[in-house]
Amino acid sequence: MIPFVDLEAQYHEIKPEILKTIEEVLDSRKFLMGDYERKFSKEFCEVHGSKLGVGCSNGTSAITVALRSLKIGIGDEVITPTNSFFATPEAIIEVGATPIFVDCEPNGYGIDTQAMEAAINDKTKAIIPVHLYGNPSDMIAIKSIADKYNLKIIEDCAQAHLASMNQKAVGTFGEFGTFSFYPGKNLGAYGDAGEVITQDEDLLRTATMHINHGRVKKYKHDFCAGNFRMDGIQAGILSVKTKYIVEWTDKRIKAAFLYDELLKTKGFKTIDVIDGAKCVYHLYPIEVSNRDKVMDNLREEGIGYGIHYPIPLHIQPALSYLGYKKGDFPITEKAAERMISLPIFPEISEEQIEQVCDVFLKSAKA
Ligand SMILES: Cc1ncc(COP(=O)(O)O)c(C=O)c1O
Repeated sequence: MIPFVDLEAQYHEIKPEILKTIEEVLDSRKFLMGDYERKFSKEFCEVHGSKLGVGCSNGTSAITVALRSLKIGIGDEVITPTNSFFATPEAIIEVGATPIFVDCEPNGYGIDTQAMEAAINDKTKAIIPVHLYGNPSDMIAIKSIADKYNLKIIEDCAQAHLASMNQKAVGTFGEFGTFSFYPGKNLGAYGDAGEVITQDEDLLRTATMHINHGRVKKYKHDFCAGNFRMDGIQAGILSVKTKYIVEWTDKRIKAAFLYDELLKTKGFKTIDVIDGAKCVYHLYPIEVSNRDKVMDNLREEGIGYGIHYPIPLHIQPALSYLGYKKGDFPITEKAAERMISLPIFPEISEEQIEQVCDVFLKSAKA
């Protein structure tokens, strides 16, 4: 048995520290935001490479908070790739704006920057690139297009903790970077949690208020916002895990390189990383022409896998009102039919990777 993700191995490694931290939070009764959130945000910003950041309830609310902090809402359009998880457009819709989808590029599967530029019009207010699978989108091109048209950038870094482009951390190129600490993410809480990072103090203040009922002080509310607070137990747990994130990320990269060596060389197409970028391999997706057969084969041999993502966003039933149809974004649609994600997590051994590849190669066709 090789699981798709093994959260148990990691938990056992750090269990005493985790239990001690939970006890500390309970003893302190600092259950929401406050000291534990501040401590974690500082540590996360240091290790990730951001000046400022604030914790929030999850990666979806992080995007909502970023959009609201930039005053994006009804009548505005936000450009984002159709190759992403549903949360990205969901947050855009939550604030009353309209997601405008564009295709991904075929090598790294990030937003196609030419298509992105072509989609810009008078209503466009922001771009949300998604560093899917942990692979940085072309932030140099995206930033230069955003500057040319005076657009805001929110980088969805939910899958890309510690990823970078030319040594600059993802999430620091535009106004905001947003993170998810969903348990299976590269840095995962034991529940829901998220983070908004920014390099601008005013934006940090506004985002912090949007996270907590539009207030700085208790019972004085400057605007209507909502409650998207991070809880103290999750912040404490994340502080413990942040100590290991560099090591865990290196192990993921090493695992991915071994997969590359064993599979890319056999003619299979997987993530290409642009020059100067550091991909942190939240996932290891690979394209095959006979996915059903490969899935059956892996299942029979007790090997976990995932599909990221089987239905592109533009043809999701919930978004049919936007008027997109099958055929609109052929690169994402083709990837959605061909991609299968193989097991990857820091503790996966070389032997396990070799075993996955042996089984995969028995049935997979490029
Ligand atoms: C690309 C992307 N964006 C946003 C999110 C939303 O994060 P959360 O589940 O913490 O709300 C996720 C999480 O799965 C994600 O993968």
